[in-house]
Amino acid sequence: MTTKKQTVGIDRLSFNTTAHYMDLQELATQSGTDVNKYYQGLRQRKMAIPSMIEDVVTLAAGACQRIVKEVDVEKIDMLLFATESGIDQSKSAGIYVHRLLGLPNTCRVLEFKQACYSATGALQLATNYVRQNPGRTIMIVASDIARYKRNTAAEATQGAAAVAMLVSANPKLLSIDSASGFYSNDVMDFWRPNHMHEPIVDGKYSCEVYLDALEETWKSLKDKTNVKISDFYGFCFHVPFSKMIFKGLERLFSLEPVTWSERARLNSLADKAIEYNQDIGNCYTASLYLSLISLLENNPENMAAKRLGLYSYGSGCTAEFFTATVGDNYRNYLYTDEHASSLASRTALNYSQYTAFHDGFVKTQTMSSSENVALPPSSYTFNGVSDDKRLYSVNDSLV
Ligand code: CAA
Repeated sequence: MTTKKQTVGIDRLSFNTTAHYMDLQELATQSGTDVNKYYQGLRQRKMAIPSMIEDVVTLAAGACQRIVKEVDVEKIDMLLFATESGIDQSKSAGIYVHRLLGLPNTCRVLEFKQACYSATGALQLATNYVRQNPGRTIMIVASDIARYKRNTAAEATQGAAAVAMLVSANPKLLSIDSASGFYSNDVMDFWRPNHMHEPIVDGKYSCEVYLDALEETWKSLKDKTNVKISDFYGFCFHVPFSKMIFKGLERLFSLEPVTWSERARLNSLADKAIEYNQDIGNCYTASLYLSLISLLENNPENMAAKRLGLYSYGSGCTAEFFTATVGDNYRNYLYTDEHASSLASRTALNYSQYTAFHDGFVKTQTMSSSENVALPPSSYTFNGVSDDKRLYSVNDSLV
């Protein structure tokens, strides 16, 4: 009798984004820019804009909610919160999420930081834990609000979302291989000092470092496993803006011979992997995993048992190239309809509403109660700050 080898990886994947967005046409009209610079040049269409009652905690709780409803929460040993737009220097945002979701007190909670990379670090540590403890699970939630200063080149690449993933043994969606390629280097391409509300970004340089780190992590992975591009059905990369992943594929193709038809196939698969990112924008730690959801949910081809290569990049920088295999019945465990309807039900902002939301965001750090009572009710609400304590509520009729 042959026993099936135990696999470890992602059992469920769900995303949650803001209730509002702005089409990049609005930004283009305001700044006198040809909108095709955004639509074609960056391959972005819309950006998710948080209101004053949303933050990384409410986004994260909403992303976890669908998964929590379906699984045995008593088996969740850890809630790992990945973010680079954290709300507190000391307390993990995950602690609030833990309470909002009603997770057991026996669950360990902590926050991970290394720019857009940290969810991948959390995922790798989680898979190792589950290999040792195969009956247990770990919830990872990557949640970020990508805000840049207004009237800068980076402004068009803003966005916000959270992705929740449940890590388990024998996962339904994706088995993750233990070998991966890493790369770290102390560079100043993107950072946010404690006293600043928006990051400092050296945009062009950050794109160069992203591509160099992709090359280095691929080489490191090859050194360990001898993989070739032709071993893979497709690739998902970190998506700071959607055009970047096509630049990433070009860099990968420069590293070994790849036929023109294979290049075309991988590029058109990448179109499926950016569907959600194009309408949400950057969401830092969550963006690679949003792209993975996009590929799984929008690719009409059956991906069962197909092998994927995933590249995670966090400015500063740390990067990792890892590999995974899609589960046999993955389609039965996706939230495709829920994700589509959450995107369809968003409200569009015009430029002046956007500036009010953008500028109001900083005020939320200290506001005593939510001022914007006209906003539609949501499952999880940030209600402002009292005595420097952040207040959150759950709307039981919506969860
Ligand atoms: N029609 C079609 N295309 C047009 C166009 C038009 N009218 N006008 C310009 N374009 C094209 C340009 O040719 C260019 O395409 P290529 O890159 O393929 O040449 C593209 O539109 C963008 O134009 P610019 O390079 O002139 O854009 P920019 O300099 O104003 O801004 C940016 C681009 C530097 C990426 C800026 O958006 C930025 O700073 N973004 C934030 C930083 C970032 O996302 N970095 C990515 C790597 S770091 C990372 O990954 C971590 C993270 O999440 C932040």
